[in-house]
Amino acid sequence: MCGIIGYISKEKGVSKKIIHNLKKLEYRGYDSSGICLLKGNTFLVKKSVGEISNLEKKLDFDDDFNCGIAHTRWATHGKVSLKNTHPHLSQDHCWAVVHNGIIENFLELSEFLKTQCVTLKSETDTETIVALMALLKGNDNIKKLNEVTTMLVGSFAICLLHKSEQVLYVARRHSPLYVAKNDTSCMVSSDPVTFGEDFETYYALPDDCIAKVTVDKIDVYDKDMNKVCVSASEVGSFEKSAELGKYSFYAEKEISEIPKVVDTILSNYKIVDHFKKINKTFFRQIKKVKLIGCGTAYHACLMGAKYIQDYAHIEAQGYIASEFRYSKPLIDKHTLCIFVSQSGETADTLLSLELAKSKGAKTLAVVNVPYSSIAQKADVVLPLCAGMEVAVMSTKAYNAMLLVLKLLATHLSKFSETPQNIDYTELKKVNYFKDVQKIDQITNLVLKSEKVFFIGRGEDYICALEAGLKLKEITYINCVSIPSGELKHGTLSLVDNKSLVFVIATDQNLLAKNISSASEIKARGGKIVLVTNLDDVQCKDIDYVYHFDKITPKLSSIISIIPFQVLAYKTCLKLGYSPDKPRNLAKSVTVE
Ligand code: AGP
Ligand code: GLU
Repeated sequence: MCGIIGYISKEKGVSKKIIHNLKKLEYRGYDSSGICLLKGNTFLVKKSVGEISNLEKKLDFDDDFNCGIAHTRWATHGKVSLKNTHPHLSQDHCWAVVHNGIIENFLELSEFLKTQCVTLKSETDTETIVALMALLKGNDNIKKLNEVTTMLVGSFAICLLHKSEQVLYVARRHSPLYVAKNDTSCMVSSDPVTFGEDFETYYALPDDCIAKVTVDKIDVYDKDMNKVCVSASEVGSFEKSAELGKYSFYAEKEISEIPKVVDTILSNYKIVDHFKKINKTFFRQIKKVKLIGCGTAYHACLMGAKYIQDYAHIEAQGYIASEFRYSKPLIDKHTLCIFVSQSGETADTLLSLELAKSKGAKTLAVVNVPYSSIAQKADVVLPLCAGMEVAVMSTKAYNAMLLVLKLLATHLSKFSETPQNIDYTELKKVNYFKDVQKIDQITNLVLKSEKVFFIGRGEDYICALEAGLKLKEITYINCVSIPSGELKHGTLSLVDNKSLVFVIATDQNLLAKNISSASEIKARGGKIVLVTNLDDVQCKDIDYVYHFDKITPKLSSIISIIPFQVLAYKTCLKLGYSPDKPRNLAKSVTVE
């Protein structure tokens, strides 16, 4: 997490440019931010806790700077405070650094620094980087940076400034970092989406490389100080950052875009043959499928595993990336590993991809950001075509993940004994937001309850998992998602007359079983909201029924989450919280 900007220019006015672009990275972290500008031989440092707009208010000086670095933080080491906000300066005030990632051996490094009489001022792991830079003797700063990076264990994208040089020193390991150049300036950034306004080309800094960036040139070196040639990418193809338009919040805008995203996917997958490489020969080589992701993407993996196993009859299973990596997974060249990620930068998912590749698995990425690290590394990429998602709560990208995975499962089924024939045009006719105004009433039920539960069976259980994540993520309400049948094996003891239970039922075959679970809850005093698109649900124990629009059962899992996305959003607004930037979280999780 954390966003980094470095800017160096022949022209003055970089502080405005830095802040303008740093704001585009606020999705990566927003607990505090800071800037270090270089003037003559001195640093001007400003920091602020909270959103970048707070920092902006402190920049009340003439913008006659040519060079600076800045950071928007998502704390990993040390609480959110001015003291821990980046940039951090070295003990001799010669170096300033901004860092994205975790220096895992920072305790060891701090101990070493103590022996050198260096006392760190912050609680961050980051400060060790500048402290080490300042300790090294000599004038060759790029060599010093190389030496320091060899001492660091963990993941990092760093940008450093020395007070007597108009140079940006950068390095990366695992965390992404990009550099763009035009005739007058160079900019370093955590996300190339920031380059759109001022640059035409940019370079992705290769992993484990360092670079010296001046206004005139970018010199990249590998670990052994050999020069590395990096090819330029076009900025032109990027979507400019998403505008809010008529909406108050991105969460609302992004939920409203779901029908458009579905349309885009269906047309794009019709025009472009994304499945070209996934042919009969490919299929015959696969013995099992593993789908790997985190959070919402993990829920999409669970759903995708069901689709693939049901349609193509290959053993398929969903995994949480951070667990997968340490589970000694049995993978070989007959395993298809599918990595699902909106950002394409989630550290655990990316590292799982590297693990799968090292074991010879076939890899496929289902990602929204086409230039992301996961998209770059996988053998095959299936784009989500969801457009930029800004709100931390993932909504439209989840619906997109389900649809793309369903298209993939349908494609794979062609090579099996049970080819599927699904009429995807139904998705163009369905009303995605049928009766959503009624969700206001349900919101009141949530707010009156002390405990909230989501239950379902099969695909509806996965919907329950995602519904629970949406609610807790932006309303901070503690809730439990559990398969209906599992309730009586422990969790039912929590149910009392202060409980609200959402029963999700979209499968006619499982309806009777779900109704029995509802009765068990009612008998313990719990209130029940049934969320369904089935007709004629008869049960006296249900307090409220919310009907979403009917669609063929094969497609209902793609839309059944929408009432819950809306519920989380509306409840969040009623509680007065920020739907786009929930506390303690960030959009892109680039730390393990
Ligand atoms: C979703 O609402 C969350 N913000 C989170 O669970 C997210 O889905 C997860 O961090 C994975 O992100 P990715 O899709 O970018 O890999
Ligand atoms: N570890 C650094 C800090 O806590 C950077 C955090 C990050 O990139 O997420 O300040």
